[in-house]
Amino acid sequence: MNRTTRTELTVLGLIFLVSSRLISQTTDDIQLLAPAFENNATLMQALQNRKSERSFSEKDLSLQQLSDLLWAANGVNRKASGKRTVPTARDKREIDVYVAMAKGLYLYDADNHLLTLVLKEDIRALTGKQEFVKKAAVNLVFVADYDKMSGNRESNDFYSATDTGFISQNVYLYCAAEGLATVVRGMVDREPLAEKMGLRKGQNIVLAQTVGYPK
Ligand SMILES: Cc1cc2nc3c(=O)[nH]c(=O)nc-3n(C[C@H](O)[C@H](O)[C@H](O)COP(=O)(O)O)c2cc1C
Repeated sequence: MNRTTRTELTVLGLIFLVSSRLISQTTDDIQLLAPAFENNATLMQALQNRKSERSFSEKDLSLQQLSDLLWAANGVNRKASGKRTVPTARDKREIDVYVAMAKGLYLYDADNHLLTLVLKEDIRALTGKQEFVKKAAVNLVFVADYDKMSGNRESNDFYSATDTGFISQNVYLYCAAEGLATVVRGMVDREPLAEKMGLRKGQNIVLAQTVGYPK
């Protein structure tokens, strides 16, 4: 083998190593599916069926359901502007939706309709004080990023709470349309959860919301 061939092989090997590393870093993320717009419940039926439920089966959501749930919650519905299915005060888009499932904690990246892995650990039990949170398929955690907001503490508290309410209601309506159970929850031990999630000082847990098949 001449020197040029050896160098070429070394370069090829390095490219392979780097690309396989990149691939293995991204395989932990979950690419979500495009929304299934053909869901046949009407808005009026969803409103009629909206309710809080506190009894969940352990059955997982399908990838399509998980995708539609997150798109409904906070997805991009106008690609050019990146605006969302929910209104957001001053268009700050400060609410991040975290998703705690048995296989780990993920962050919803709305622009790429992607779940990025945050923690490869089941932290569902930490997302609330009620027993059902431990085994329900999905616990959403709504986190306000105050570093994206420009107001004082009072207005940031107010707007992040109202913005979270819209997201939560979209989740309620999607669940009602899809026959899934859900309940929004304020009863969360925020400090240990924030620590486990690795949140920054400017990030505040507003509410959590459990989603799953009804039991
Ligand atoms: C801000 C907020 C916080 C809530 N926190 C909890 C909670 O921690 N645990 C719970 O089981 N339900 C919680 N709920 C759900 C309410 O108890 C529920 O919406 C209310 O009983 C009315 O029932 P409905 O949603 O079926 O109409 C919360 C609701 C809101 C709006």
